[in-house]
Amino acid sequence: MMDAIVPPEDVTFDFRTLSARDRYKLMIGTVVPRPIALVTTVDPQGRINAAPFSFFNCLSADPPILALGVENHPDMSFKDTALNIRLTEVFTVNIVSHAIAEAMHVCSVPFAAGRDELQAAGLTAMPGSAVASPWIKEAPASFECRRHVTLELGKSRQIILGEIVFAHYHDDIIDTERMHIDPAKLDAIARLGGNTCSTIRDRFEMLTPTLAEFEAAMAGAPDRDS
Ligand SMILES: Cc1cc2nc3c(=O)[nH]c(=O)nc-3n(C[C@H](O)[C@H](O)[C@H](O)COP(=O)(O)O)c2cc1C
Repeated sequence: MMDAIVPPEDVTFDFRTLSARDRYKLMIGTVVPRPIALVTTVDPQGRINAAPFSFFNCLSADPPILALGVENHPDMSFKDTALNIRLTEVFTVNIVSHAIAEAMHVCSVPFAAGRDELQAAGLTAMPGSAVASPWIKEAPASFECRRHVTLELGKSRQIILGEIVFAHYHDDIIDTERMHIDPAKLDAIARLGGNTCSTIRDRFEMLTPTLAEFEAAMAGAPDRDS
């Protein structure tokens, strides 16, 4: 069933003595691929902000919770995304497809607060259905979220948990009978270490074997010690 894996020699790091920069480099190069949330928010005046975050994932389906890891600026001031979420309690996560990868990158430029990154990136802001923050028409899927809880980690980072209250999809990527998303049509991109991104175009199916299937396969497998 499984070929024996022969691991190479190992190299080790004591995370307690590594610099923050080295820990960061090891973590972003190792925990891959990380999906990218293009997060849209509004400030109290209703001005739109958009920025990408790859410290992002879904953590719970019931309740439906997403997590964002937002670092402060070096002077400890909040990024516009974190400040807007703190002030308005809502945000929208837009999934980044390969088609909007370049536009996503434009949104990460450190524009002055109040500058509409979506306009700069040529993306279309659609009025939120359940929250004040807009969703992006060109994104294949968008989740409107209410802030659930914010965890303050250390001096400079927040983990923002948001509860999904409303979702939008391009209608050609979802089978609404089966609630099945076509990963090829979603065509999401992901972040790896450094500045490298990847697609999810190389896929394979894996079915978890039942205990009986596993035992049958092992019974038929050649003895590893012989
Ligand atoms: C692909 C990508 C992923 C990023 N992921 C994060 C992240 O997880 N956390 C973070 O604080 N900044 C991240 N950034 C940097 C922010 O997008 C950047 O600081 C942005 O200017 C913040 O915008 P804001 O001040 O409008 O919130 C990422 C940038 C890119 C291009």
